[in-house]
Amino acid sequence: MKKILITGAFGQLGRALTRELENENILLLSDTVIPPNSDGFQLDITDRKLVKESLPALELDLIVNLAAMTDVDGCQSNPDKAWIVNSTSVKNLLDFGQCPLIHISSDYVFDGENGPYKESDETSPINVYGETKLESEELIWTTGKRHLVIRTNVVYDYEPTTKASFLKWVVESLQNDQEINVVTDQYNNPTWTSSLAVVINRCIELDVTGLVHWGDKDYLNRFDFAKKIADVFGLDKKLINPITSDDLNQLALRPKKGGVDASMLSVAIGIEPPLLVDSLRSIKERFSE
Ligand SMILES: NC(=O)c1ccc[n+]([C@@H]2O[C@H](COP(=O)([O-])OP(=O)(O)OC[C@H]3O[C@@H](n4cnc5c(N)ncnc54)[C@H](OP(=O)(O)O)[C@@H]3O)[C@@H](O)[C@H]2O)c1
Repeated sequence: MKKILITGAFGQLGRALTRELENENILLLSDTVIPPNSDGFQLDITDRKLVKESLPALELDLIVNLAAMTDVDGCQSNPDKAWIVNSTSVKNLLDFGQCPLIHISSDYVFDGENGPYKESDETSPINVYGETKLESEELIWTTGKRHLVIRTNVVYDYEPTTKASFLKWVVESLQNDQEINVVTDQYNNPTWTSSLAVVINRCIELDVTGLVHWGDKDYLNRFDFAKKIADVFGLDKKLINPITSDDLNQLALRPKKGGVDASMLSVAIGIEPPLLVDSLRSIKERFSE
């Protein structure tokens, strides 16, 4: 049993990870905002003084850092904030945590010319979010200590508490007979939060350190992802219109062929990435419970 601090614990991945880890560990859950009736405490990881005052007294065995500015266009329009939240604050956790760190990074550290990417592939971010995530990794390696960085991509889930997410947007739009436009030229291997949570747990149990990649099985574009969602949730696929990234005119450039190759970690921890359709069915079943 370990004493583990999860930062950003009430975000999308944090909720799944809390469910996965809570029976076997002592969890401390922190975030900027603590939802009503939740056990957790406010910890803005950008506040160096607060981190310095609070972390050593907790006597932690491990920190899992999920706190991040994940709005990719928001990072582009507010780079100062993005650098502080996604990079500089990681140093606060490293300096005052006095324990190993598991940090979640992104396939956006790559340019998206040639995905899915292996751990050994060269990085070359094309937007601010990707640059900040890459810098966060470098801060971790500078310590020379045994930390773990897991790069993942397009993390999805859908439950009543889920904030904005691709899956939620697709399901709710189609349920309301709203047409949606989805890009055909951005490829990834979308990763269910529960799949990643199981992997993080196994990495903790096996004391995996270094740089690893995790993404689920299916490598596909967003348009096909939306169509699979419609199939599983029994919604009308004809409401989904194919468009290209140029039509979307997003503020931050997106890697076109992104995604991560999880084969190295899969062999190391003995877990197969799940199929998208199986994960979507599990999520749907949760709704009908
Ligand atoms: N979502 C993806 O597709 C994806 C892909 C690759 C990697 N990742 C990485 O995976 C990790 C978890 O992502 P997620 O999808 O769970 O994101 P999320 O749902 O946006 O959760 C992140 C949480 O961090 C909190 N946070 C933001 N700034 C903070 C600060 N200064 N101090 C403390 N907490 C702060 C957020 O609070 P607010 O909501 O109040 O800002 C939110 O609750 C992140 O490191 C992300 O970069 C995500």
